[in-house]
Parts: sequence; structure tokens; C-alpha cells
Amino acid sequence: MIFLGIDIGTSGTKTLAIDASGKILASDIQEYPCFTPKPLWSEQEPDDWWNATVKTVNNVIKKARLKPVDVKAIGLSGQMHGSVFLDKNDKVIRRAILWNDQRTVAECHEIEKSVESFHLGTLPQGMSLELESVNGRESLIRLVANPALTGFTAPKILWLRNNEPKHFDKLRKVLLPKDEIRRRLTGEYATEVSDASGMLLLDVARRNWSTELLSALQLDIDLLGRVYESEDVTGNLTQSAAKQLGLTTDCLVVGGAGDCAAGAIGNGIVQEGILSTSIGTSGVMFVYSDEVKIDPLGRIHTFCHAVRGKWHLMGVNLSSGGSLQWFRNALCSELVAEAKKKKADVYDLLTAEAEKTPAGSEGLYFLPYLSGERTPHADPFARGCFVGLTLAHGRGHLVRSIMEGVTYSMRDSLEIFQGLNIPVKQIRASGGGSKSPFWRQIQADVFGQRVVTINSEEGPAFGVALLAAVGAGAFKNIQEACKATIKIVKETKPNPKTKKMYDKAMPVYQNLYRSLKDDFRTL
Ligand code: XUL
Repeated sequence: MIFLGIDIGTSGTKTLAIDASGKILASDIQEYPCFTPKPLWSEQEPDDWWNATVKTVNNVIKKARLKPVDVKAIGLSGQMHGSVFLDKNDKVIRRAILWNDQRTVAECHEIEKSVESFHLGTLPQGMSLELESVNGRESLIRLVANPALTGFTAPKILWLRNNEPKHFDKLRKVLLPKDEIRRRLTGEYATEVSDASGMLLLDVARRNWSTELLSALQLDIDLLGRVYESEDVTGNLTQSAAKQLGLTTDCLVVGGAGDCAAGAIGNGIVQEGILSTSIGTSGVMFVYSDEVKIDPLGRIHTFCHAVRGKWHLMGVNLSSGGSLQWFRNALCSELVAEAKKKKADVYDLLTAEAEKTPAGSEGLYFLPYLSGERTPHADPFARGCFVGLTLAHGRGHLVRSIMEGVTYSMRDSLEIFQGLNIPVKQIRASGGGSKSPFWRQIQADVFGQRVVTINSEEGPAFGVALLAAVGAGAFKNIQEACKATIKIVKETKPNPKTKKMYDKAMPVYQNLYRSLKDDFRTL
């Protein structure tokens, strides 16, 4: 029995195949562009995701020499919050607006305003929330467990209504990126609880659409797909999809998960006490929870987990690995050319320069707010900066300060979890950034805790391949699938001296945002 995991990422789509023991048989990635028609806008073409899906699946089948009948199920993962707008013929109306797009500040206020006078009943069972007063933001947190953030999906729908009314008039369905791929695979309009949580339209405690919020926003529930648990089967491949993918119509498509929950499943975050860090384009700090726990200040997200009937909390930093990628692209073209000649990885060369500089980058700080920031500031106006430059600083310091700044921004989330009494007994590092032992050491030192890595570094695609295996009956549940396939392979201990230094640097880093906040608005 073979299972596929497909992850519709921001830089590309990755597909991998596993067998029933979780062994990875082959994987393939196809990249596509991201469009920025205006500063802080971020868009993609759903057709690019589809073409990459078809190509990667075909390549994986070829590479692993799979027999089509052996592929029993597919799990879908993808960048969260993006909006695919479809008309009555399922034609894409305009490019999809992505998770890191910041155009919806006015719509976030509109959403809060629309629920200001809401009558609020008792809290759902298990939800603990201490609120002093009831204003729009607070009633929203009660309805959907989260405040309105510019990257989420509901504000994007309102933006379409306010700014492109001709497009809005044609609108019949809004799907998340991976759910648009599901529609093209199965013909079904469906989603699952983990990704749906990030639309800001899901009653996260009850794991279904919030009819109260939808009616307050005057949005029709028919705009949305049916909500499933992540391991549930949502359909079979259509004949046309099976033909394009080289598979059979017996192949099932399970719910899958948003890339954060999928990555966490792939990292074995299926019980209390384990936290995962992920450094990809964005940075994610993710903890499992048996209950719906909510930060009353709305600094971190509370979403349904891809584990049936469970939840998770997470902090998201918008430019983590993305900050280093920006640095490479904007300022290192010579080094990129040199790396190409040497057949080396440019990130390894940059890391080698950073390793020669001392912890703390000799007083240089980097604020990683290149796309605004979500956790903990929820501030689309925040901007990236180097603070503390002197003539003594070279490129190595800049690189190290980026890695440190990104890790401080992740510690912001860790401190919020600790403040909410969420136990963190083990930290599992993942994502491209965590492949570097140097950056893992910075994580252990900044978090002041041991950081471990596991046997699979395949991230979200692996997580949803496991969900596919559960959906097809190869495992009883996702906890069992993780237990059978995931093992800890490395650990990095904090260096007490460096930890002490970072403990002193952290409040300095945190204060820089407070000092610059008003200036960011002026900029
Ligand atoms: C999560 C988020 C990002 C995207 C990136 O809330 O916005 O991590 O999912 O793919």
C-alpha cells in the first residue's frame, strides 16, 4: 500500500510517496512564482499549483516505479489562509490572495465592528477565556477563537466585496489553496478543520462553520465547502484527474491539513508537552492541546488540530527563513555565483561566515518584520530593520543577527505559551532553517532548552501522507501512525553561557519594537 502527500507551498509544490511503514520512496518539488502587484500584496495562480501537482505526482510515480493500483490514498497540505475565488462554472475569478498579504487592514476593523453588539451566550465546554469587557475584538475571539488578522481568509472575502465588486458579484465559492486542488482532484467542495480554522469563519470550539459570524458579515454559508476531520475521506479521484495523475479512480483523497498542522503531524506533535519549531518562509511555534485554550490578548492562534477532536496553539512569524532568503537575493549575488561555481549551497557559505562571529552579533539586532508581523504584534505596518550597526560589523554579523532575530521572534511565542501555562517539555526543530546545526544551536541557546530533531525532515507532505494512511485504514489513528514511524535522532543542548547572554539580549530585542512602533506607522 502506497500513500501520497502533496503540499501546495508558497515557493513550490512538493509531493512524496510513503509505504505503510512510513518509509519515503520518492519525492519531487516544482517551483512557481509569487506575484507582488503592489507593496505588501502577495498573490499566486491556482493553475500553477495544479500544474505542479500533476507534474510532481507523475515524477514521484516514475522515480519510485509505483504501480497505479498500489496508490491507495492522497493527503493534501498547503499554505494556509489563501483565497481561491470561483465563479458558478468553477473558473478562478482572480489570482489567489495569500497568507502573507497585508491589504485587508480596513476589512479587519469592519469584521470587529460587525460583531461589536453581539449577544454572547455561555462559552463552549472546555474553553477558558478571561475577558474583562466585550468589544468587537473580544466577541470575535469568543465566536471563532481568534482576532481578525490581515492574513486570514474572511477579511480577503470582504476586501473583494469592497474593492472588486464586479468580481464579488460572480463569486460562488471560496476555497483554500489545497482545497482548490482537492476540487480539481475529486470534484468536491470540501475542507478540513485545521485549515478551515485559519479562515476566521470556523467556530473552532465546535469544529464547524460559525453561522453567527457568517450572518453578521452577510456572507452565505454556501460560499464554503463541507468541513471534515483531517483523516476523513473527502472523495475519490475523478476519471479526468486519475488520468492526468497516472492513478486510478479507487484512490482516496483524505482531508489532510493546513501546512502548520501537517508539519506538526510530520513531527509527531500529537500529545501534550511537545512543541515544534519550524523555520520555512514563515516561522511557526506549534503546541498541541487537549482543550480549546485561548490567549485573551489574541497574540497567538488557537486552531483545530489535525488530530481528531483536539486543538493546537501557534505563533506565526511572517519572515523567518524568508528573512535570510531576502538577504541572499537582495545582497549576495556575487556569493550566489561563487557558490554555483563551487557547486556549494550559498546558505552554507553564509552560515560559515556567521559562525565566525560571536553570539549576540556584537550588539547588532535584526527585527524580522519584512512583511509586517503576526505574532506577537499583529502589526501589518511593522518593518524589518538592522539596529546597532557599527563599522566593525561585516556580512557574517548581519547573517548571524538575522538568525538570532528570527529566533528571538520565535521565543516571543514560547513566552506566551509559558504565560498560558502550556507545558513545553520537549522542543522539536524542523523546516529548512533547522537543517543547519548552527541555527539549531542558536534555537537551543535562545529557548534555553534542549532541541531535538526527528528521522523525517520532509515536513507537511510527510504529515499528510500519514493522514492518508490513517484514512485508508493502515493505522487506527494518527497518534498510532506517528508512534510507528517517527523517531528522535539528534539533540542539541543549550550552552549555559550563551543562554545567559541571550536571556539578557531578549528584552533589548523586545523593546526595539516598542520604540519603533509609531515610526513604522509613519513610514
Ligand atoms: C500560518 C501561515 C503560514 C502559511 C505558510 O498561519 O500563515 O505558516 O501557512 O505556508
